Amino acid sequence: MNKISFKIGLLFFVAIFLLESISMFFLHDNIIHSRVHDELSALQTRGNNHREILEASFQEETIRHIAMMEARTDTQVILTTPDDGIYMSSNKVTNEMKKILKGTPRSVPHDGLILEDDWKHATYIASISPVVIDNKVNGYVYMFQSTQKIKDLISGLNRHFLLAGLLSLLFMMIIIVFLTRAVTDPLIKMSDATKRISKGDFSVSLPKLGKDEIGELGESIKVLASDLEVLKNERNEFLASISHELRTPLTYIKGYADIARRADPASPDRDNFLGIIFEESVKLSKLVKELFDLAKMDENNFSIEKEEVHLLPYFQSIIEKVLPALKENQMELVLSCQSELSGVIDPIRFEQVILNLLDNARKYSEPNTKIIVGADTVDGKLQVIVHDEGKGIPEMDLARIFERFYRVDKSRTRALGGTGLGLSIVKQLVEAHGGTIEVFSSLGVGTTFKIIL
Ligand SMILES: Nc1ncnc2c1ncn2[C@@H]1O[C@H](COP(=O)(O)OP(=O)(O)OP(=O)(O)O)[C@@H](O)[C@H]1O
Ligand SMILES: [Mg+2]
Repeated sequence: MNKISFKIGLLFFVAIFLLESISMFFLHDNIIHSRVHDELSALQTRGNNHREILEASFQEETIRHIAMMEARTDTQVILTTPDDGIYMSSNKVTNEMKKILKGTPRSVPHDGLILEDDWKHATYIASISPVVIDNKVNGYVYMFQSTQKIKDLISGLNRHFLLAGLLSLLFMMIIIVFLTRAVTDPLIKMSDATKRISKGDFSVSLPKLGKDEIGELGESIKVLASDLEVLKNERNEFLASISHELRTPLTYIKGYADIARRADPASPDRDNFLGIIFEESVKLSKLVKELFDLAKMDENNFSIEKEEVHLLPYFQSIIEKVLPALKENQMELVLSCQSELSGVIDPIRFEQVILNLLDNARKYSEPNTKIIVGADTVDGKLQVIVHDEGKGIPEMDLARIFERFYRVDKSRTRALGGTGLGLSIVKQLVEAHGGTIEVFSSLGVGTTFKIIL
């Protein structure tokens, strides 16, 4: 028995038990009340019947007849004179009866009275009916019945109630056991499933649980498990890529440092080696910085601080930074942006986006080609494009270039020094701005990146 089943079972039990006890109590009370009432009014009616016969013929013969009739029943009749003398009694008059006879009120209505109805404590229940002939009271008919009969009846009733109570208690328990099973079984299975997931077993199989909230919970757990599996695999791949990326420059640094250490300090080669070491360190620190940026974006603990920016001077200042590198490649850059155009962006982060795209456009283009940067509003949204006339991206790689460490050039020619992180950073930054980025490319013709904010 697990805790949840016990809790729910107990709850069911207490609720049903209370309900049953209360309704049984009222039923019991009602039955007793009406049984006692029946007995009392039967006794009274019997007394009234005798009284009527006596009123019709108040004779020795009739009185004897009534006494004889009562002697054979479980009731007893006593006929008294108006001044309380005992005329006739069907059975022996006991002390309890005498007490009741003495306690009779002065005036009794013609329909009679119940003199004793305390069936629990008294020995008898009793009634009185006056015999009135010619407007004069000729005597009183007293009826007595032992309360033992009622007591027996009620103890029989109690036995029945007890049996019914015990039986329904038994059924209740059986039903509760099944009910709680039905309710808690899926929960327990889910709890087991989550335990297995946390131990790394993602192959959770949960039975179909229907369309209610519990069913939804089960579905969510399954989704969670497969998401976790994907995440775990992604993380492993990512770690593998990182260690690979770090290993390459480190191997160079280590190798050249070793050679440089042993080389003649005066030799020109030594400067060459130190130059390579320096370059590799620069690459390494760039990689580490980019990874750090990505990690920050993943944790969502970097903030985008948007402000209204005049786009023409903004783009001009960015382009100024890349012009020297472009000149070196004999490339030309054209900016197309209306002077009054402005956008709400985070200037520092968005500059990172544009610089990354321009860096790619330069790296993956031949000399004497052109790069176009354009900004415009389309349907009320800011649209920025970076277009180049470079070598383009093959169709099959287009969908994946925003992935971390993804590079089209599988051999990863180190000549261009790319890490494959640039575009994934671009994408994250654009999405953090609430925007989208698309790419269009044809091999040998050029590539266009389109950002919509
Ligand atoms: N304008 C472009 N023309 C052709 N290929 C491109 C262009 N931009 C990106 N690519 C391809 O997409 C890949 C991923 O680009 P990304 O900017 O993410 O990485 P990278 O430029 O190799 O490295 P990093 O930007 O981190 O220095 C590149 O390796 C390149 O193959
Ligand atoms: Mg790049």
